[in-house]
Amino acid sequence: MVKIAVMGHGVVGSGVVEVFYKNRESIQKKADCQMDIAHILDLRDFPDSPYKEKFTKSFDDIINDDEVKIVVEVMGGVNPAYDFVKRCLLKGKSVATSNKELVATKGAELLKIAGETGTNFLFEASVGGGIPILRPLSQCLAANDIIEIDGILNGTTNYILTKMIKEQVAFSDALKNAQELGYAERDPSADIEGADACRKICILASLSYGKHVYPDEVYTEGITKISLTDVAYAESMNSVIKLIGRSKKLKNGKVTATVYPAIISKDCQLANVDDVYNAVCVKGDAIGDVVFYGKGAGKLPTASAVVADVIDCAKHIHARKLINWEDRSDDYVEEYKNDVLSKYIRMTSNDIESLKNSLKQQFNDIQFLTLKDADENEIAFTTGELMEKVIDEKLSAVADMGEIVSSIRILNI
Ligand code: HSE
Repeated sequence: MVKIAVMGHGVVGSGVVEVFYKNRESIQKKADCQMDIAHILDLRDFPDSPYKEKFTKSFDDIINDDEVKIVVEVMGGVNPAYDFVKRCLLKGKSVATSNKELVATKGAELLKIAGETGTNFLFEASVGGGIPILRPLSQCLAANDIIEIDGILNGTTNYILTKMIKEQVAFSDALKNAQELGYAERDPSADIEGADACRKICILASLSYGKHVYPDEVYTEGITKISLTDVAYAESMNSVIKLIGRSKKLKNGKVTATVYPAIISKDCQLANVDDVYNAVCVKGDAIGDVVFYGKGAGKLPTASAVVADVIDCAKHIHARKLINWEDRSDDYVEEYKNDVLSKYIRMTSNDIESLKNSLKQQFNDIQFLTLKDADENEIAFTTGELMEKVIDEKLSAVADMGEIVSSIRILNI
């Protein structure tokens, strides 16, 4: 009998227990062993739970139970999750987690400990919720050199942007709705300011390129400044605005890693990924483009990935299943302003004609956009492709002639 402990009984934790007991028979068959949940750690009381006798408020009950071989960490946050997970791995217990903040900030260290103690540290649910992405990246695509990853990695912001694009719903109402549906993080700023997607692109980049990319190295911008006017201008370009996590391997050995709202053509596969769905487009040198698509948030989709990791841990109790990357401290992540792209800019000015003339002098390749009912003191345009820092220099040259109210990068994915 393999005993499991589940740390955290929130949305994902309760989903893990539900999925485990609902499908226990087939899960045991797939794991080729008998399994049971011995402890559920949470500081809250759950007197009505059918599993109430399994609840504990003390981590000691888990760490001191030598029969517990697999620990599920679904508490979220770095503290105390980091300390608990580290102690479990050091004590020879494998860990399955959905905690992207933990993996993005401490992944290299925890993977190293797992390697040293012959345990497994698996985190399929940390990126894309229920979408199988980390296993395919590390196993099925192992023969490829990964060139680029582009993803819609946050369900909450994709839900909000979809509401804005398809129903012209205001940002705050759409956010409230996403929270009610259980998609948002406890602190929704992690979703709307891009931190959640940032953690996920860190994990994807670390796994794809073999070296840890840390969240503070990733230029991150959320969707709070996106307005319905920008959505309408994007529509006029036959495009949509999506929050894109992106990482590329460069010829100089470095990588790029960014998260920001981007205008993408409706012809791009990611443009049609709506609501809480996530999608990750991986470009490999042998396979070309592969797109992974599915529910990126929510109780049961995320639990589905966590329980799959538990099965994998059970099957590999005495054998390590390789998923790995190295730690590093060198100058590895390229400055985002060196990336070549074009930008959509919206400006206000009291003298639109003079501003337009100055912009034409700055940018050889500029397209002015039109919108029915646009404000007469407003101008919107797209630049040609240039290094981002060059675009910004050219815009600084006209700074005294108007004010930039929106600036959104345009990506060809
Ligand atoms: N808040 C996250 C999202 C949950 O909306 O995608 C899944 O990581």
